[in-house]
Amino acid sequence: MRFQMQTTADGSSTVFDAEAGECFKSRHAALTETEAVFFQPGIAENPWLGRARPFRVLELGFGLGTNFLQLKNSGLALEFVSIERDLAGARYFLEKEDNPALRELVEQRSFREGAFRADLCLSEFEITLPALRQDGQRFHAIFFDPFSPKANPSAWSPELFALCAELLEPEGRLVTYSVSRVAKTHAEAAGLCVTKRALPAALQKRQSLLAVKQARGPDKSGLN
Ligand SMILES: C[S@@+](CC[C@H](N)C(=O)[O-])C[C@H]1O[C@@H](n2cnc3c(N)ncnc32)[C@H](O)[C@@H]1O
Repeated sequence: MRFQMQTTADGSSTVFDAEAGECFKSRHAALTETEAVFFQPGIAENPWLGRARPFRVLELGFGLGTNFLQLKNSGLALEFVSIERDLAGARYFLEKEDNPALRELVEQRSFREGAFRADLCLSEFEITLPALRQDGQRFHAIFFDPFSPKANPSAWSPELFALCAELLEPEGRLVTYSVSRVAKTHAEAAGLCVTKRALPAALQKRQSLLAVKQARGPDKSGLN
């Protein structure tokens, strides 16, 4: 059996994926990871929040839709685009814990509720990120959430970090749970300013990563 439900210490659930050899979210505190690693630094503290209309969020790795549900439940007006190549985990999760919004997004690939919009691209990061760039799309926050560099090494490539940096607006934020050398080195090589964030004890992990795109400097061309 590939998947197995797990209840974590903060009362939220996640799923162990035997193929990846990992859980989709922290096996210690799934919802706390969503809040502390992704929502707080990526959205709540994002200087674009309240200024950008629409505020746009890109996710690499939809997984079980835990981040999606947290964003939907936040009541914020935003556009969320998530890329995922394998919806088997989300389908298994839905069998165990049904949720109409998650079901609609997984089945229809889109979900709308007032000023909240979500779209799910069933594809590979390596295909969709260049397509988004080609299309001129920009995001205020990127949730970089593949499996770990050990389990999912190709997702932590310099090329994908460079594409993410291009897709971010100036002052936009990429957030991820890994403070591994690859994450830090590739985010910095992509021109992002990297800092580490302290995490709550419940996660049994000390830090997560915040990578910010520089604000546009003053125009020195003299052309305005
Ligand atoms: C850690 S889980 C994501 C958890 C998710 N954000 C959530 O809130 O539940 C990582 C996901 O990334 C997906 N993934 C890994 N590499 C990928 C790739 N190259 N293209 C698309 N999806 C990928 C996996 O299938 C897996 O579902």
